[in-house]
Amino acid sequence: MELIFATNNLHKLHEVKEKLRLSNSNIQVVSLSEIGFLQDIPETGTTLQANALQKAQTIYDFCGKNCFADDTGLEIEALNGEPGVYSARYAEMICRGVARNAPTFDDNISLVLSKLHGKTNRKACFKTVIALFWNGKIHYFEGRIDGEITTEKHGVEGFGYDPIFRPDGYQETFAELPLEIKNRISHRGRAVDELVKFLSEP
Ligand code: IMP
Repeated sequence: MELIFATNNLHKLHEVKEKLRLSNSNIQVVSLSEIGFLQDIPETGTTLQANALQKAQTIYDFCGKNCFADDTGLEIEALNGEPGVYSARYAEMICRGVARNAPTFDDNISLVLSKLHGKTNRKACFKTVIALFWNGKIHYFEGRIDGEITTEKHGVEGFGYDPIFRPDGYQETFAELPLEIKNRISHRGRAVDELVKFLSEP
């Protein structure tokens, strides 16, 4: 079955395609470029669920086909849950007025590391909410992974905050682990497991 993934993030697209390839599901992910949607998708909600819905709704309104979107946040205990739903734009204020307006992954990582400087509580978690439009109805699926924030970057795989997030039970950050392992245990991987389970139900 075909399912459109409402994302312009090519890292997420790659991860989810790989996850589904190894999960023996019959889901074929279709990208936004394949359906001719070439704009940005607005993301103005204040919760992961609201943003996931907004992204999926935008694409459902565009094509009326089954589709899903993911919204993800990194929550850091010592920062009272920041950056959370603002994970993509965390360093935006710092970048404003500088050469670029949108923060890079490195800008966001640097801000997290500087805010955590000297703090011993490094506990954090990633949360993902997937919103699925399936036969015109909306369904939600969630995934979470706990871990800690390292004191410096390690590894070059993945994207976003991966180089500073070490999942519980592992010595490596997500950016040091093979994608197959990240996908097995990650926030997004677990949310996709729930999606697949739902779509496999008779
Ligand atoms: P969004 O779901 O597109 O709003 O993602 C928010 C931000 O969270 C992204 O820009 C990344 O910086 C970060 N992020 C999302 N997923 C991951 C992940 O799997 N690993 C590391 N960072 C992520």
